[in-house]
Amino acid sequence: MKRTQVGIVGAGPAGLLLSHLLAREGIASVVLEDRSRSYVEGRIRAGVLEHQTAEILRTSGVGERMDRECMVHTSIDLAFGGAYHRIELERLSGRTITVYGQHEVVKDLIARRLEDGGEIVFEAGDVALRDLESGQPRIEWTKDGARQELACDLVAGCDGYYGVSRASIPDGALTVYDRAWPYAWFGVLAEAAPTRDDLVYSRHENGFSLYSMRSPTITRLYLQCAPDEDAEAWSDEAIWDELHRRLEVGDCDWRINEGPILQKNVAPMRSFVCEPMRHGHLFLAGDAAHIVPPTGAKGMNLAVADVQVLAAGMLRFFRDGDEGGLERYSDVCLDRVWKVQRFSAWMTGMLHRHPDAEPFDERLQLAELYNVVGSRAASTVLAENYVGLPLEVP
Ligand code: FAD
Ligand code: DHB
Repeated sequence: MKRTQVGIVGAGPAGLLLSHLLAREGIASVVLEDRSRSYVEGRIRAGVLEHQTAEILRTSGVGERMDRECMVHTSIDLAFGGAYHRIELERLSGRTITVYGQHEVVKDLIARRLEDGGEIVFEAGDVALRDLESGQPRIEWTKDGARQELACDLVAGCDGYYGVSRASIPDGALTVYDRAWPYAWFGVLAEAAPTRDDLVYSRHENGFSLYSMRSPTITRLYLQCAPDEDAEAWSDEAIWDELHRRLEVGDCDWRINEGPILQKNVAPMRSFVCEPMRHGHLFLAGDAAHIVPPTGAKGMNLAVADVQVLAAGMLRFFRDGDEGGLERYSDVCLDRVWKVQRFSAWMTGMLHRHPDAEPFDERLQLAELYNVVGSRAASTVLAENYVGLPLEVP
């Protein structure tokens, strides 16, 4: 049977960065991914990197292309009540955010792992985790019709919300906290040069909308929609009309640039946390352990934060035989995860149109927004959370 120190399930940002950070400390791992390399490299998702996320990519030696191609933003705009209101992130928090696509981070990490001789098994089918409570956990999978087996010291479940890792934990061992939101995001990727420097989060009577970008030629846009919205039922013309309506507010002199729509999809919105983020020798990280609604741009950033804490705990375990870091892993991460859940739920509630909101609720929502932009203290709280809360890696 093959063996390694850490078996990692999932080649998303969490699994790949963990494998990279471990390799830098001389710890061996194998990454098992059920999709193909081209699929994971083409999957369009998050785009906003917190200060700390960009920093760990940079300091661990995978930030070179990011630094060349990213866009650094010092502020964001909130649009409501017929006007734009700027939140000066850098002035209020001393930090900036980096706009660089998650799939670009994934491409950079895959390239670097392979260059460093790392092993990533793509298209690994029917992954199964065995003997998680013993000192010798195993992972099985099928590749090219043959069943394979890997013995490990530790297993990292980095396989997202629908993965096999969390599902392998016996009933009753985890406590789950969750909330389904009564709306979703209709995401659009368009070949159109961005015409505004800042991201715009717009609260509109027709529903929330977000203006973002990926590069000097690609715009990324979102519309609040119903959870069962059929993306194919929307013509390109209807999409652009609704984006103009929700994003170009008041007598603004700004127009969204239109262009060919490259991708459109509907993403459900969910808040979810499972506790603890560990069972025996299995450690859950990223979306496998928690999901946030996307309004605060936090999902990928949380995944990156988790694996920094996990890599530090694994290093102490393998180098010194000290289990302290692994024992504290779940508590250290959950403390920050719940603060980020709070921020993501607050941003979501403040900016979306709720199907059952009464006029009183709508006035309260506007008052909340005017308070945020009118109070330096309140804007600072938003800015500090948006650029990323401090991460103490023990
Ligand atoms: P994933 O990226 O989901 O990676 C898990 C990997 O495991 C995948 O490659 C999957 O194929 C693989 N896998 C699953 N099951 C198995 C199995 N059984 N066996 C082997 N492999 C398996 N977050 C932000 O921070 N900002 C944003 O702007 C943002 N926008 C988003 C937009 C969309 C449309 C979506 C869907 C998500 C968005 N998110 C955003 C969330 C963010 O993308 C996720 O939080 C992030 O991908 C989490 O990383 P991860 O590595 O934990 O999981
Ligand atoms: C993007 C996604 C988000 O969820 C967000 O809050 C900001 C930007 C994006 O895809 O660019």
